[in-house]
Amino acid sequence: MLKDKKILLCVSGGVAVFKAAALTSQLSQKGATVKVIMTESAKKFVTPLTFQALSRQNVYDDTFDEINPSKIAHIDLAEWADLVLVAPATANMIGKLANGIADDMISTTLLATTAPVWIAPAMNGNMYNHPAVQKNMKTLTSFGYRFIEPNEGYLACGYVGKGRLSEPLEIISYLEQFFAEGQIEQKLKNKKIIVTAGPTQETIDPVRYFTNRSSGKMGYAIAEEAAKWGADVTLISGPTNLPTPQHVHRVDTKTAQDMYDEVLKRYSDCDVVIKAAAVADYRPKNIFTEKMKKQPNDWVVEMERTKDILATLGEKKEDQILVGFAAETERVEEYARGKMERKNLDMIVANNVAEAGSGFQGDTNIVTIYKKDGSSLPLPLLSKNEVAKRLLMEIEPLLEGKSYNDC
Ligand code: PMT
Repeated sequence: MLKDKKILLCVSGGVAVFKAAALTSQLSQKGATVKVIMTESAKKFVTPLTFQALSRQNVYDDTFDEINPSKIAHIDLAEWADLVLVAPATANMIGKLANGIADDMISTTLLATTAPVWIAPAMNGNMYNHPAVQKNMKTLTSFGYRFIEPNEGYLACGYVGKGRLSEPLEIISYLEQFFAEGQIEQKLKNKKIIVTAGPTQETIDPVRYFTNRSSGKMGYAIAEEAAKWGADVTLISGPTNLPTPQHVHRVDTKTAQDMYDEVLKRYSDCDVVIKAAAVADYRPKNIFTEKMKKQPNDWVVEMERTKDILATLGEKKEDQILVGFAAETERVEEYARGKMERKNLDMIVANNVAEAGSGFQGDTNIVTIYKKDGSSLPLPLLSKNEVAKRLLMEIEPLLEGKSYNDC
């Protein structure tokens, strides 16, 4: 993941500078090109020569000491980097960046770069917990900077607490994951995906409705993940309390009929539909315009069938990929495969909602993905985000026109 990546390592002053030297060496060994900028105080701990030898690159420390007269070094470095890593980041450097102060080569370059910036703080535990430092880190997070939290343990100042710079391998694993996700990001670029999520509400009278236990978490996780993979995602949601995932276009609906209308109007123009919503199969036949008054006797509500959205999509299917969910409590495979066939789906994700850790409301799910070629992929207990990832990994090859056997 790090091969040929251009990493600008900004080293500010603290005992942990020695770890930045190890980091430089390990990043270089993984094939990254590392250029280093040091603050004056960082140079008091380890000399620039160490970083130069480990990176085989010039080391920068002075905004005004231009090594190449044809370039302005801090702008050039800011534009060169695929990723900027500040490690160790002192309280002072974090404070400067949060407040837009540019009075040395690192802070100046950080303001000039548009590359993703990762910050690995290292300082005394009380300094780390100081409200000013915490506030500055929050500000930077809101600007889009990413943090690699320090570890707890023995600190050079003699305290035991949170403030130790993360180990080089730990930092590297964050960067590798970041680049891996960046590569995934492209995989669904230009693909239009409709995801449905949450329950529906079927009105009886102005104060009552029928609904179900769906929280929307499963569908929202899929929408969020698909957007991370670069897809153009429309999330057609029943009533939930969840925030809209980033870069997702959300359409709110209430009833099965609303959801039917919103999905159908977008269907001809989309590549994939993933139906994680728990749609009501029945709704009250009569909706009362006034609140129904309590009666001495039982109240029988006559119910009628709603339209089956997924079955309709299956009938109208052209070249879209159709993915259903099946919430079952028994004979899971048999019922799930039956739904896949009847509704003309490419795959169905079955969850046994009676099983602990699976189905409604929780943050985890246990699913088996059944495909129309007869194969299946049972997954263990996973977070709903991870289930979403694994599902997209199964869907993506189908969009590339590969056959199921290639997957
Ligand atoms: O939202 P969470 O709390 O995270 O819970 C997740 C979940 C359990 C709701 C989800 O994982 C799930 O299983 N969703 C499908 C629930 C369901 O309605 O299953 P079903 O077996 O009744 O329906 C089969 C498929 O047909 C589903 O894709 C459903 O969206 C679709 N359907 C059903 C009825 C209908 N009228 N129209 C439909 O499109």
